[in-house]
Amino acid sequence: MKRTLILFFLLPWFVFAQQNRMWIPSEAHTAYNNMVEQGAQFPFEALYSPDKPSFNDAIVWFNGGCTGEVISPQGLILTNHHCGYGAIQSHSTLEHNYVEDGFWAKSLDEELPNPGMYVTFVRKIIDVTDKILEGVTDEMEESARQKLINANIEKVKKEIPIEKWQDVRVKSFFYGNKFYAFVEETYKDIRLVGAPPSSIGKFGADTDNWMWPRHSGDFSLFRIYADKNNRPAEYSKDNVPYKPKAYLQVSDQGVQEGDLIIVYGFPGRTQQYLPSFRVEQITEKINPVRIRIRDISLGIMDKYMRSNDTIKLKYTSHYARISNYWKKWQGENLGIKRTHAIENKKHLEKDFLESLKDHRGTAEELRILEKLKQAFKELEEPELARAIFFETAYINNKWMQRGFAFTRFEQALVSGDEKTVQKALKDLSNQISFKNDDPRVEEELFVSMMDYLKHHLPSKYMDENLKNTDYKKLAKEIKENSILASQEKFEAFLKLPKEKMQETLKTDSGQTLARALIGVYYNKINPDYMQNNSEINKLMREYMRLLFKAYPRQNFVPDANSTLRVSFGEVKGYDPRDGVHYEPISTLDGMIEKYIPGDYEFDLPEELLAIYEKKDYGKYNVNGTVPVNFLGSAHTTGGNSGSPALNAKGQLVGLNFDRVWEGTMSDLYYDPSICRNIMVDLRFVLFVIEKIGKNQRLINEINSK
Ligand code: ARG
Ligand code: GLU
Repeated sequence: MKRTLILFFLLPWFVFAQQNRMWIPSEAHTAYNNMVEQGAQFPFEALYSPDKPSFNDAIVWFNGGCTGEVISPQGLILTNHHCGYGAIQSHSTLEHNYVEDGFWAKSLDEELPNPGMYVTFVRKIIDVTDKILEGVTDEMEESARQKLINANIEKVKKEIPIEKWQDVRVKSFFYGNKFYAFVEETYKDIRLVGAPPSSIGKFGADTDNWMWPRHSGDFSLFRIYADKNNRPAEYSKDNVPYKPKAYLQVSDQGVQEGDLIIVYGFPGRTQQYLPSFRVEQITEKINPVRIRIRDISLGIMDKYMRSNDTIKLKYTSHYARISNYWKKWQGENLGIKRTHAIENKKHLEKDFLESLKDHRGTAEELRILEKLKQAFKELEEPELARAIFFETAYINNKWMQRGFAFTRFEQALVSGDEKTVQKALKDLSNQISFKNDDPRVEEELFVSMMDYLKHHLPSKYMDENLKNTDYKKLAKEIKENSILASQEKFEAFLKLPKEKMQETLKTDSGQTLARALIGVYYNKINPDYMQNNSEINKLMREYMRLLFKAYPRQNFVPDANSTLRVSFGEVKGYDPRDGVHYEPISTLDGMIEKYIPGDYEFDLPEELLAIYEKKDYGKYNVNGTVPVNFLGSAHTTGGNSGSPALNAKGQLVGLNFDRVWEGTMSDLYYDPSICRNIMVDLRFVLFVIEKIGKNQRLINEINSK
């Protein structure tokens, strides 16, 4: 009785709720029944089917990080602007500035190829747990276990019947308690078809990022090309638009508060099952350090960006990348506090232990949380060291980041093998670009990052040399003389004979430091980290197994791991703070209210302002305005960018692109009161294509049935 009561109050976590979770489509029957209760009008086979055309046949893993969906019989793909950004930027020049002005191909001929870009369909999902765990015993060492599993994976891959152009990927779920195989098709000729001006595509930029109310047209269009037989093929001008097995119907009906929405895509990573003390450790020990280091780095960039337009242009994209997670971690910490996630998890853990006891948990099994607590405690130091290292010597420090690329090259040089050296040289020149560097910014970043490392890296990992270096002085020296800081010196280096290269690298002041840093990382930090981490994986696997044992009737849903998932919820506002309520739908009027002429985040194109003045909304008019974004209660995370949001009829009504700041802790702890995903209203997408892109060709294609 007592326990039931506790569970009742703590509904949010893994208990009862079918909403707010990321279901494996082939296992989503319970979820589907719930969708039907909420109005879904399509059969389960439309949601997922291994042979009949189903939604999964219209959804792609977009370029290994985002999601996209096919929205026409000619393989047109919709994804986010921020997912297509690299491609849009790569085709932009001063004369054809597609980032700034947008891009709209008027014919197939004008669609632009993107070498290296790919999209992957998932055709079939198979539970292969028994085969993968065949021969695995509890007594096995972790390394032996992994070896056997890898061998079993190879075997399973060979056993599953596939077509010549398909692949099988096997992924681990629930920390290695379950395994699924995915039959996939990867297409590699992906062309850019359309993108709005970035003032629409990333309206609000960093200020509005992770925020509601939001007014962003975060979309872009691509097309899959295939060979004459409709099969995947490398780029060729003879390739033709791909004819999809299924594509999504676009609805012009829009959404209303309370409507069912289904978000279908490739969420990257969640950690719902971490114990309370781990969540506490992340929010109180790990996040603050990462946030603090990025405070410093963002402060430096901001200072220069504000005072100099050239620097602003160069650093905008890097700044956005660094600030994205900086902001997310802060929201995460607040959300964990606000929803009392740690206390709630503690209650659930108490309940878990009682329930485990009721289900004949052994004394050893009942110690699982103690063991985990100890293991996470031991992980803390190497994990902090690793975070400090990554932030100060890599992600926020371009000179050292380059140094690491050079270190890989150095290794190839030492190998002496001509082929290896040539390949490494090519990699090096591909990896290293000075295009977006400003020496003043890099110098200041270097000094403050290295000083941070010097003062904060746990002493256990510190090296005398690193500790005693005067980084201000060294920075001057690097700026003047190092191949890590100057394009000319780098280019001159590429022309040197091999023996000379080795010598230059040995004496280069920047490279000497990078080498020392790498040594600290690989010889000290990483081995400690890996050892502790492997112990934790093992214990988390055991914890999961015991959760299954303690709650045998519970339908557990695995954490996100970049595999195809379906999540559902409803269109719904939220209360971010006491006394404040957010409506779930934003409109063009709100966008115009935010407009700041000439501002780099809140400027808008003339055409849009003119349309607004004339209220020339045509069929996109809804109550005298145009809907722009809306909120839902579907559980999403990074990787869900570009995911389709479907209505009860299974039609496309929204394009997922973000979450709200207060609810970013949903990666660790989902709370239905403040966790929301943010979508672009499909009507706004069509409005922009038609009225700003003036591209009737695409409108006709999308509306063709
Ligand atoms: N917050 C979104 C996501 O996590 C959008 C990121 C792109 N925008 C930006 N300002 N960095 O990825
Ligand atoms: N913008 C994120 C992405 O690129 C989605 C936001 C989130 O983390 O939910 O995947």
